[in-house]
Amino acid sequence: MKVLVTGGLGYIGSHVVVELQQQGYQVVIIDNLMNSSESVIDGIVEITGITPEFEKFDLRDKKNVRDFFKRHKDLQDVIHFAASKAVGESVKDPLLYYENNLNSLIYLLQELQGAEQANFIFSSSCTVYGQADILPITEDAPIKPAESPYGNTKQIGEEIILDVCKANQNINTISLRYFNPIGAHPSASIGELPQGIPQNLVPFITQTAIGLREQLSVFGNDYPTRDGTCIRDFIHVVDLAKAHVVALQRLQKKQNTNHFEVFNIGTGQGSTVLEVIRTFEEVSGIDLNYKFADRRSGDIVAAYADTQKANSVLGWRSELQLRDALESAWSWEKKIRDNKTSPY
Ligand code: UD1
Repeated sequence: MKVLVTGGLGYIGSHVVVELQQQGYQVVIIDNLMNSSESVIDGIVEITGITPEFEKFDLRDKKNVRDFFKRHKDLQDVIHFAASKAVGESVKDPLLYYENNLNSLIYLLQELQGAEQANFIFSSSCTVYGQADILPITEDAPIKPAESPYGNTKQIGEEIILDVCKANQNINTISLRYFNPIGAHPSASIGELPQGIPQNLVPFITQTAIGLREQLSVFGNDYPTRDGTCIRDFIHVVDLAKAHVVALQRLQKKQNTNHFEVFNIGTGQGSTVLEVIRTFEEVSGIDLNYKFADRRSGDIVAAYADTQKANSVLGWRSELQLRDALESAWSWEKKIRDNKTSPY
């Protein structure tokens, strides 16, 4: 029952570790701490009372990966998060993204080739659809040319896995294409820890509300949407985390009908940027300081998931609402700024 979670101290990874432990799984984490902190383990322990096994090393080092699997011969369940994820940074330093996101994937798969049976969950993104022609977006929607090297690593990653699963029938994979994960664990013991100025909407909102940023810029108010701002499918990170456990169990029980399966993970509901701001103002009681600014290049107008496949085949659906997610993001922000000993 031991599961390897790479990037398990990161934002989504840490929430998945909690869900796995709460379902009785033993977890071993590999994380190089390039975008996370060892103190996340304390948060995990606060929630579950269980200290996960942790090994700090870089998956780009093939020898490390090989040695790790020699020490864990019985490992067959892997949830792979370890990757770089900042879109803008990937445009400036594409090789960092191709090296980090693809080499680590390849080295992991090389080790799994020798396993009797391997179950692999891949962290993918709705970014592979670009601006889809039809909304909501189904898994059959065409993959559009990637807008950024980051997005390209997700597309290429899926292609690599597909080929590997075709050639090695012992490897079964589910790729989860996330829409926009937001929020934090309701305990406020773990959450998102953006480095530097946040690029994503919700951390920028909470940092503005707490006074760390002066003003939020809303990128574009002349989009063809109900209020002129972009539409996204914001999914609570705890709901998203649960989808990973359900996906892993599907593979463990050999219920998958293909060696490589793909599921959209979202709520199915689109919210505009202004709706997110209004809801945040309601749950926090704060008037957010924001202004309208130019459109951000590379942004798509609208994206939200068709979740029917995840609902009916995976047996998973999101349960929490936008307000729950924003409330938890706000509690988390207050907690990490109040805590004078906080490393963040
Ligand atoms: C972004 C990435 C996407 C990645 C996802 C991970 C881009 C172009 N896309 O998605 O590839 O998978 O994060 O979470 O970066 N907004 C503002 N003001 C801000 C920040 C955002 O108005 O300060 C708006 C954006 O214009 C967008 C919406 O909020 O309309 C959501 O933005 P964001 O949170 O960055 O997510 P995505 O761009 O959808």
